[in-house]
Amino acid sequence: MATIATIVGARPQFIKAAVVSREIGNIRGLDEILIHTGQHYDETMSKVFFDEFEMAAPDFNLEIGSAGHGAQTGRMLEAIEAVFIECKPDLTLIYGDTNSTLAGALAAVKLHIPLAHVEAGLRSFNRNMPEEVNRVVADCVADLLFVPTTTAADNLLREGVDPTKIHAVGDVMYDAALQFGERSSSKQSVADVLGLKSRDYVLATIHRAENTDHADRLNAIFGGLSDISAELPVVLPLHPRTRKVLVDSGLETQLPASLIRIEPVSYQAMVELEREARLIVTDSGGIQKEAYFHRTRCVTLRNETEWPELIALGCNHLLPPRDRQAVVSGIRHALAAVDDWSPDATLFGGGQASRRIVEVLEHRLLAP
Ligand code: UD1
Ligand code: UDP
Repeated sequence: MATIATIVGARPQFIKAAVVSREIGNIRGLDEILIHTGQHYDETMSKVFFDEFEMAAPDFNLEIGSAGHGAQTGRMLEAIEAVFIECKPDLTLIYGDTNSTLAGALAAVKLHIPLAHVEAGLRSFNRNMPEEVNRVVADCVADLLFVPTTTAADNLLREGVDPTKIHAVGDVMYDAALQFGERSSSKQSVADVLGLKSRDYVLATIHRAENTDHADRLNAIFGGLSDISAELPVVLPLHPRTRKVLVDSGLETQLPASLIRIEPVSYQAMVELEREARLIVTDSGGIQKEAYFHRTRCVTLRNETEWPELIALGCNHLLPPRDRQAVVSGIRHALAAVDDWSPDATLFGGGQASRRIVEVLEHRLLAP
C-alpha cells in the first residue's frame, strides 16, 4: 500500500482534487490522506464543494486561515510538516499556485518526499503576482510535473526542466467540467431566482490581488462594470477578498443595484451562470477556461494570462483595467463580437487528465 498526501486549501483546489481523488480511490494499493490547510474556510468557499462533490471530509484540517503571505505560508509549512512526519506519505500531490501549494511543496521537498504538481508549467511571466512565484518554486522542486497544455510543457522545457519529469495529461478542470458541469442542479437556477434571462446578462468575478489591492484598478473595474450594468444586468458572485475591499474602501455604497452582488455560489450554480451568460468578465484563471468549455465569450481583466491559447482562438480577450472608459469600451467591444470561433479539441486534453495522472502515480508508486 502506498500513501499519497494531497494538499488543498483554496476553492479551485477542492474542484481539481475532487476529480483526481475519485480516480485515486479506484486504484487498489493507493491510499490518500487529504490535508486541507484551511486557507479558505467560509462555508461558501470550502464546505459547499465537499458536499457537492460528495468528497470525504479532509483527514486533517489545519485551520490556518487568512494572514499575510509570510505568516500564512509559514504556519502552513510548519503544520504540514508535522502531518508528514506523523503519516510518512510516499508522495505529495499539490495543485495550482496558491500559498497552500507552495507550503505543501516546501514541506515535501525538505522531508525528501517525492512531489507531484498538477497544473505545472503555467506562467504569466509576471513575478509581481504571488501565484507566479508559488508556481515557479513548486515546479522547481517537483519530481512529477503534470502539465495541462503544450504551452505549459514548452515553458518548462525552456526553463531546462528534465523532460522525463513532464507528463502531458491535459487539464483536470476540463475533467471536472465534463463530470460535474453537465449535471444540472435540481434547484431553481441562480439566474431564475435573480430574474435574469438566458444570454441577457454579464457574469463577472474579481479577486486577483493585482486588481483588488490597487485603488486605481479597483475603481476602473467597478466603475466600468457599473456603467455596463446600466445597459445589461451584471451578476457578481463576490469573493470574500473583494467584498472586504469594497466595504473597507467605501466603494460598496456607491454601486448601482443593477450590479447584482451575490454570495459565492456552488460549482454547479456557477456553471449554470456561465453557460447562460452573454459574456463573462473575470480575472480568475479557472473561469477563463470554463467560459471556453461552456462556449461563452470571455473578457479577462488582466495584463496577461496563463492560458494564451484562448486569446489566440479568439474567445477570450485580455483587457488590462487601466481606467473606467477602457473597461467599458473593452466589454462593449466583446458584447458586439460575432461568435466565429470553434473549439479546438486538442487544447486541454480529452477529459482524461485525472485518469492519466493517477496512472503515472500508480506506476511510480506501485510498479514492482
Ligand atoms: C487565493 C490564491 C489565488 C486563488 C484564489 C482562489 C494565494 C496567494 N492566492 O487568493 O491564487 O486564485 O485563492 O479563490 O494563495 N477570505 C475570507 N474567507 C475565506 C477565504 C478568504 O473572508 O474563506 C478573505 C480574507 O479577508 C482573506 C482574503 O479573503 O484575507 C484573501 O484570501 P487568501 O486565501 O489569502 O487569498 P485569495 O484572494 O483567496
Ligand atoms: N467558482 C464557484 N463559485 C463561485 C465562483 C467560482 O464555484 O462563486 C468556481 C469556478 O467555477 C471555478 C473555480 O471556482 O471552477 C475558480 O476559482 P477562483 O476563481 O476562485 O480561482 P482561480 O481559478 O482564479 O485560481
